[in-house]
Amino acid sequence: MKVAAQPQLWIKPGVLAELPAILRQEGISAPAVVTGGRSIRGREEWGVLTDALVGGNVDFLDITVRGEPSPEVVNTAVTDLRRDLPDCDGVVAIGGGSVIDAGKAIAAGMAMAGKGESAFDITRYLEGVGDLQPDGSTLPLIALPTTAGTGSEATKNAVLSSVGPEGFKKSLRHDRFVPRLAILDPRLHMGCPPGITVASGMDAITQLLESYLSPEANEITDALALQGLRAAGRAFPGLAGGDDSEELRRDMALAAYLSGVCLASAGLGVVHALASPLGALHAIPHGVVCALLVGPAMEGVIRAPAKDHRRGGIAARLAAAAEALGVPEDLPGWLRGCAQGLPRLSSYGFSPSEIPEIVRQGGLKNHPVTLDEGQCAALVEEVL
Ligand SMILES: [Fe+2]
Repeated sequence: MKVAAQPQLWIKPGVLAELPAILRQEGISAPAVVTGGRSIRGREEWGVLTDALVGGNVDFLDITVRGEPSPEVVNTAVTDLRRDLPDCDGVVAIGGGSVIDAGKAIAAGMAMAGKGESAFDITRYLEGVGDLQPDGSTLPLIALPTTAGTGSEATKNAVLSSVGPEGFKKSLRHDRFVPRLAILDPRLHMGCPPGITVASGMDAITQLLESYLSPEANEITDALALQGLRAAGRAFPGLAGGDDSEELRRDMALAAYLSGVCLASAGLGVVHALASPLGALHAIPHGVVCALLVGPAMEGVIRAPAKDHRRGGIAARLAAAAEALGVPEDLPGWLRGCAQGLPRLSSYGFSPSEIPEIVRQGGLKNHPVTLDEGQCAALVEEVL
C-alpha cells in the first residue's frame, strides 16, 4: 500500500492580502510569482496581491505562463529569474493546473540550474525524454489554484508539453516536488468562465473515478476518492449550470485537491493514458479530453467481459462511485451528458489516420479492465 506525500493544506477565502505574512512564515523573502496572466492579472485580486507584496517589502518577480507549459517556457523563466531575481528563494503559483505545473517546474529548475555551470535545459529531466534524473532539489512552492481540475497543487509531478507531430507531454517528477503549501481560496475560482469550469471539473471527476477504480487503490485513497466524488456531486451540476457561489466553488476545489492526492497514490486509467498522446499531437485542453472520453470509458468498464478476476469488485466500486457522485442510476449516461456541447476531437485538428499511433503511445495505465488496441481505438473514434 502506498499513500503519496501531501502538502500542508489550507482552505482560506480571501487569502491574497495575507500572502506577505505567509511568505515570511515560510521563510521566503524573494519569491517568483507565477500566474496565467488573464486569469488573475485582470482582476481586483491582482492589485490586492501586488499592494500586499509591495507594502510588505517583498522583493518579487512576476512571471506569466499562457497555455500548457512547454520546456521553453520553464527554461526562459529560470534564465529571467537568475538574471533579475538572483536571490529567488521560493515560488508562488496562482492559476490553473498549467500555471501550477509551470511553478513546480520553475521551482525545481531554479534549484537544479544553480548547481551546474552549463546552460540549463529542463527537458533533460523529463521522464521518457531526458537523459538525467532530478535529484529532488527544489525551492519551496506555494500553490493557489484558480480552477478546480488537475489537482496539481497536491502532486509531485509537473506535466510539460511540446505540441506537434514530434510532440510530447511528459512529467517532471520527484517526491520532493510536492508543494510545501496548497491554499484553496474559493473566491479565486469565482468568475472562472463556464467552459473552463466544466472541462476542469470533468478532469477532477475523471481522476477521482479512475483512481477509485485503479488496481492500486487502497483504504486511504478509497476514503478520499469517495469524499471527493461527494463534494463534486454537490458542486458540479450547479457550477455547470452557471451558479458561481463561494460554497460550490469551495466544494469543487476540494474535490480537485482530493483527486490529486488519489491519483498520486493509486494512479489513473485509460482516459489519462490516452490524454497524454492526444494532448501532445494537437493543442486540446486536457479537461476537454477527459470530459469527452470518460463516459465511453466507464461504459466500457461496465461492459467488460466477466472473465476479469476483479470484475465483481469493479461492479461494486462503480456502484459506490456513482452513488457518491449522486448519479446511482446511469453513471456513463450522466458523464456523456456533461460532455454535451463540448467540441469533439476533430474540431482540434485530429483525423482518423492518427488514431493507431495515439493508441500505440497510450497504453492502459492503471485501468481496471483489459482493453486491446482495437477497443482503445474505438474509444477515440467515438469522440472524434
Ligand atoms: Fe487529469
